[in-house]
Amino acid sequence: MTRAHITLDPAFRVASVDRRMFGSFVEHLGRCVYGGIYDPGHAHANDQGFRTDVLDLVRELGVSVVRYPGGNFVSGYRWEDGIGPREERPARLDPAWKTVETNAFGVDEFMSWVAESGTEPMMAVNLGSRGLQEACDIVEYCNHPGGTFWSDLRRKNGSAEPYDIRLWCLGNEMDGSWQVGHKTATEYGRLAAETAKAMRLIDPRIELVACGSSNSRMPTFAEWEATVLDHCYEFVDYISMHVYYEESADLRSFLASAVDMDAYIDSVVSTCDYVAAKRRLPKGMRISFDEWNVWYQSHHRQQQESMEWTEAPGLLQDRYTVADAVVVGDMLLSLLRHADRVGVACQAQLVNVIAPIIAERDGAAWVQTIFHPFRQAAAYAKGTVLRLAVDSPRYETDVYGDVEAVSAVATYDEESGDVAVFLVNRDPDVAVSLDVDLRSLGAARLVEHQALSHDDPHTRSHAETVDALRPRQADSTSVDADLVLHAELAPASWNVVRLSA
Ligand code: AHR
Repeated sequence: MTRAHITLDPAFRVASVDRRMFGSFVEHLGRCVYGGIYDPGHAHANDQGFRTDVLDLVRELGVSVVRYPGGNFVSGYRWEDGIGPREERPARLDPAWKTVETNAFGVDEFMSWVAESGTEPMMAVNLGSRGLQEACDIVEYCNHPGGTFWSDLRRKNGSAEPYDIRLWCLGNEMDGSWQVGHKTATEYGRLAAETAKAMRLIDPRIELVACGSSNSRMPTFAEWEATVLDHCYEFVDYISMHVYYEESADLRSFLASAVDMDAYIDSVVSTCDYVAAKRRLPKGMRISFDEWNVWYQSHHRQQQESMEWTEAPGLLQDRYTVADAVVVGDMLLSLLRHADRVGVACQAQLVNVIAPIIAERDGAAWVQTIFHPFRQAAAYAKGTVLRLAVDSPRYETDVYGDVEAVSAVATYDEESGDVAVFLVNRDPDVAVSLDVDLRSLGAARLVEHQALSHDDPHTRSHAETVDALRPRQADSTSVDADLVLHAELAPASWNVVRLSA
């Protein structure tokens, strides 16, 4: 056992907790839409074809924003194919995922699903195979009240009121050679600037996200952000970030993935600030971290090689372990630590495809290990994010060298007095004995300490293991008379300590 010490002080403010930090992502990919959120033939489908058991779990997860319809899919998508009478909608090839798209589910169905799930839509436009005009058309369809071609078509299709969608992504991963309509930074920067200006002329209240790099290993990383923002800084509100981790080297390195994520966010913030400084622009650019998760991409590459064109193939159906959940929890901590710059974040994805929720074909819906840290962070991170002074033991990793074992962040809701301390012990071999100095709170009562860990962190989610792989109460945790919290953090564990101040 090693020892760690943390000081918590409500004066160490990072920023307010923005609910948009707990977003998710629904792409026309695999069985996320068809057979996931939408499955008219299923026993639990409502009269709109939405799976009600999935809807219940989405609400329990506490998802705020939902990004749609892609992802790589959007770069070849004609959104008008998905509106109007179903029998007239064309089937098309989706080149991104080698899939036949029936278009039975489109913008109007998505907006009905958003209303049912109590989430906020985040719509992506196609800047791969299409451009400025089609982007303006969909803004007019969704947000213009009526009296024009597209807005009247929406009314005819059943929605008299405009959808008033605020968040819009200007394409997806346009730096990637795999993207339909992949562009250079200059080509994309100019297109993003002009499209943003035109979309805002249709609806000045929208918030716009320009594409950043697909990940920090891209050869063009940082130069891409600098060039794109040089062209469009004043016309957009966010630059996007995406990252996926998988256990490819040693477990010790995998568990330290958030070390890399922290550095990645810091680099993008610096690049944004460089462009702002160079161009004498006062606005601080915000980050939309609109794809993040653990994803075993190596499995997908093997699968895609042997695929035929089919409808809703079972793609990217990763089954997550306890270690994956600890990494997902730590990624959430990285986002919260950067709450002063990260304004939106979307875990990719929501159902069946690299997802916390699994919807079985003709069967039940159930949750994977990664559901729990997300649900707890979304439920308990309230008020203000606090930066903690952390004195942690360190451990050795092959990829990142010597790293801190304890990752931590806290939130404090002044109104209710609720405090949540989120903690990860990344070290897979050694437990940590932790003290947290709470004296600055004046008074504090322990509400509960919930922890997720396992003797074998590679234990994987199945429908049968759902109950065994939930967080449990940690009974030995206490707050003493001097307002010091004492807790033990198991090796490779995710922890939430809730207090009342
Ligand atoms: O989330 C899966 C895919 O990952 C998305 O379609 C794409 O944007 C990213 O490469």
